[in-house]
Amino acid sequence: MSKIKTTFHCQECGAEYAKWQGQCNKCGSWNSISEEIKQSSNDNLWDYEKSELNTKDAKPKPIDEIQIKDEYRIETNDKEFNRVLGGGIVPGSITLLGGEPGVGKSTLFLQISLKINSRVLYVSGEESENQIKIRANRIKNSNKECLIYSENKLENIFAQAEKIKPNILIIDSIQTLTTNNVDSLQGSITQLKTCTAELINFGKRTSIPVMLIGHINKDGNIAGPKVLEHMVDTVLQFEGDRNHLYRILRIKKNRFGSTNEIGIYEMVSEGLKEIINPSEILIGKSDEKLSGTAICASVEGSRPFLIEVQALVSTAVYGTPQRSTTGINSKRLNMLLAVLEKRAGFHLGSKDIFLNITGGLKVEDTGNDLAIIVAILSSNNDINVPENYCFAAEVGLSGEIRPVSRVDQRIKEAEKLGFSKIFISKYCDTTVAKKIEVVYLTSVEDLIDKIS
Ligand code: TYD
Ligand code: MG
Repeated sequence: MSKIKTTFHCQECGAEYAKWQGQCNKCGSWNSISEEIKQSSNDNLWDYEKSELNTKDAKPKPIDEIQIKDEYRIETNDKEFNRVLGGGIVPGSITLLGGEPGVGKSTLFLQISLKINSRVLYVSGEESENQIKIRANRIKNSNKECLIYSENKLENIFAQAEKIKPNILIIDSIQTLTTNNVDSLQGSITQLKTCTAELINFGKRTSIPVMLIGHINKDGNIAGPKVLEHMVDTVLQFEGDRNHLYRILRIKKNRFGSTNEIGIYEMVSEGLKEIINPSEILIGKSDEKLSGTAICASVEGSRPFLIEVQALVSTAVYGTPQRSTTGINSKRLNMLLAVLEKRAGFHLGSKDIFLNITGGLKVEDTGNDLAIIVAILSSNNDINVPENYCFAAEVGLSGEIRPVSRVDQRIKEAEKLGFSKIFISKYCDTTVAKKIEVVYLTSVEDLIDKIS
């Protein structure tokens, strides 16, 4: 008889220890280490001796002889979701969606299940059928073939899925699943790993795509070990402030396409509304001219859109000046402030600086740098930036204005929305025919000369 072995795992980062300790050496969190039963090697999932992979007919092949099968994708009726995935869901694939509580993960997957024209098995271990029905009523779409199953035993889910043969299997959430194969508690690392591995096998065997919802931990990563993200084919992240309306769907890993695309949604009373043309809603509309705002021709993924950056610079009331950002990395702001101080002679060291992207979006494009600088200078000097100006360039450490990617697309988008001037780097190659006036800049000093 095999002996039951126990190990200790950090529930935050997955680090393994031989005995219990109060703090995890790897991620530093306290009280996150708990005991788990280790499987004996007889029923090890990755036992290659027993593995199906080790069959006699499978052998290495020259790459030239491998025939590509026609790639088929299941298209959902959600254009943003299809775009993010690179055209739709790949049969047999495993997708993991992570995000803060309340951001709308369950709403997104339920909405996809209700809009699609095929059979979906939506399994929830978190909510009752009643709660799901109430949400479905708000969303208003309806799909006769959307089956709701409130269950968290993996064996029962497989039994139903084999019977029903859905086109998509949705699990809300992976942390609530348990399997009889392991004795650990629900949500423990061993349960998570085993359930995911079994779902992957199920997907590959039946060609039914599996879409999982995953909780995230306090650092914003998917709860449980990083290995979960390595195991699945696609990792999606749903971002956005629950107090704001807009949500961004980002793709962090994609085995079947690029990881550049993003999807933008607005949370309304009928669920998540796709935003096909983001620029029109992201630019604040105000008749009053205000200092401290600048428009940036930004690109997220492969899609250009215009966003509004707002800055407020005021004399610090307390000893230590505050730096606060929403939607932009605060380290980037500190770098830009250092550039302004050192290269352009603006002394902002004793000022409070608040920076905001309207609509509560989080943006990562470094092409927003120039607009951030302009917004800060505009607020500091209390001078309005003409409302038909927009900006697209990265700012380097020596104050140089650097080129950004997809500049033609940015220019076209600015032109389409009626802007008359766009400020970009002198080193950008633009070939596109345009009516909009393009101002080429070399450095921050150059910006100050040309804008005033
Ligand atoms: P939910 O999908 O439950 O979030 P998650 O699964 O990520 O925890 O969505 C939660 C929020 O969405 C909730 O606070 C209410 C809001 N909501 C709407 O504003 N409109 C709607 O139509 C729905 C269904 C939810
Ligand atoms: Mg949920």
